[in-house]
Amino acid sequence: MMHRVRAFFASSTFPLIGIVASILVVGIASQLARNQNQENLIAWYNTRIDLQRTFVAIVDEETGMRGYIATRDRIFLQPYSEAAGRLDGYFALLAAESAGDTNLVAQVAVIRGLHGRWLVTVAAPLIANPSRRNAHVIQLQGKIMLDAIRAASHEYRLGIDAHVADALGRTRLINVTALVSIMTLVCLFWAAGRASERGRQAAEATLLAELARRNAALERSNRLLEEFAYIASHDLQEPLRTISSFTELLQKRYAGKFDAEADGFIAQTVEGARRMRQLINDVLEYSRVTTHGRPFVPVDLSAVADRALADLRGAIAERSAHVRVGAMPEVLGDRTQLTQLLANLIGNALKYSRREHPRIEIEARAEGDMELISVRDDGIGVAPEDHERIFGIFSRLHTRTEFPGTGIGLALCRRIVERHGGRIWVDSAEGEGAMFSFTLRPAAGGAAL
Ligand SMILES: Nc1ncnc2c1ncn2[C@@H]1O[C@H](COP(=O)(O)OP(=O)(O)OP(=O)(O)O)[C@@H](O)[C@H]1O
Ligand SMILES: [Mg+2]
Repeated sequence: MMHRVRAFFASSTFPLIGIVASILVVGIASQLARNQNQENLIAWYNTRIDLQRTFVAIVDEETGMRGYIATRDRIFLQPYSEAAGRLDGYFALLAAESAGDTNLVAQVAVIRGLHGRWLVTVAAPLIANPSRRNAHVIQLQGKIMLDAIRAASHEYRLGIDAHVADALGRTRLINVTALVSIMTLVCLFWAAGRASERGRQAAEATLLAELARRNAALERSNRLLEEFAYIASHDLQEPLRTISSFTELLQKRYAGKFDAEADGFIAQTVEGARRMRQLINDVLEYSRVTTHGRPFVPVDLSAVADRALADLRGAIAERSAHVRVGAMPEVLGDRTQLTQLLANLIGNALKYSRREHPRIEIEARAEGDMELISVRDDGIGVAPEDHERIFGIFSRLHTRTEFPGTGIGLALCRRIVERHGGRIWVDSAEGEGAMFSFTLRPAAGGAAL
């Protein structure tokens, strides 16, 4: 367990996860800060509007007062009293909104104080007695006070603007941080993608190299086995020939000179030696497919079929078989081996039939970029469970008394087809004839249609 944990921390994944997590935390934090900053900005904009509203109310008051003094009409006192009624609330609101900045709070107090003084020393006395003697002087004092209020409001406004500028600057910084985080994340994922792609390619290359190495080893051991089979069967032929000829000589010269049992022993020895020679020849032929194969050349399959049929002339006549050969393509291969292949399949089709006139059809058609050739008969057929087995070396489904043979034919066919880069199989059901098919490369590039 500890080992796995350590391996995880040591792996390249761990730092990457760490970096991504940090960037995500920075991203989320900057988003939260951005929201907070946005709220502050809106609050300062509102304070600016509230200041505007306060100042307009003061101007309304002053205009109402002056209207009354000029006309003595009480109708002008209405905007004066309305504005005066609202102003207390406005000043309280400004003080609350500026709570975070002591300078601004003090500024609100200054404006409020000035306004209060104006009310007591200018507005109230003039409204009480508009025609007093020193009205002009009082009005002049009022103007000075209003100028002071205007100046203090301006000061206050500058303070708000500083906060707005500050918040805007912070928004810009947060935006840049978020952008950098996103870009870093994108770059990291891109780099991680590249790294994993490189890793995948490296793993694939290692796998391919391993596969090539094993293939080479397999080919080497196959070649050794083939050589061994070839040498063994070749070298066994000589002593076997001696045994065969001497037992046959023994049979010829001494038959009837011992008792019947001795004659039987001699006959069995002769037959055993003959069969052994046959088996050894079969192994030799099988191993020759690769050790003695000729280079591939364009081969006309109809000529090959004619040759195979000529070789089987006797058997065909003997079985009174009907053989039909369709149009055959030109393929790439070893003519001798291809003749052997067709002769084996046609030979089997003749052999494994109990009909009076066996019918055999040989046809070809294009299958993808290969040529597909099939040999169909109406013989005894092969049960599905034996479809693969019959291609094994010396593998037979019948005794020698039922049908003669050693069981090398189809193994040889498969070896020949595989050497040519194709495959061979059978489609059949017991008692319903069999169709053996194989594929070969066409002589010219792609298969003809
Ligand atoms: N056309 C066919 N119809 C039915 N069974 C077949 C046919 N061809 C082959 N078989 C079966 O497959 C087995 C293997 O065939 P294969 O040609 O390898 O050997 P064989 O004919 O017995 O001997 P050999 O070809 O070496 O003389 C045969 O014993 C037979 O049972
Ligand atoms: Mg055969």
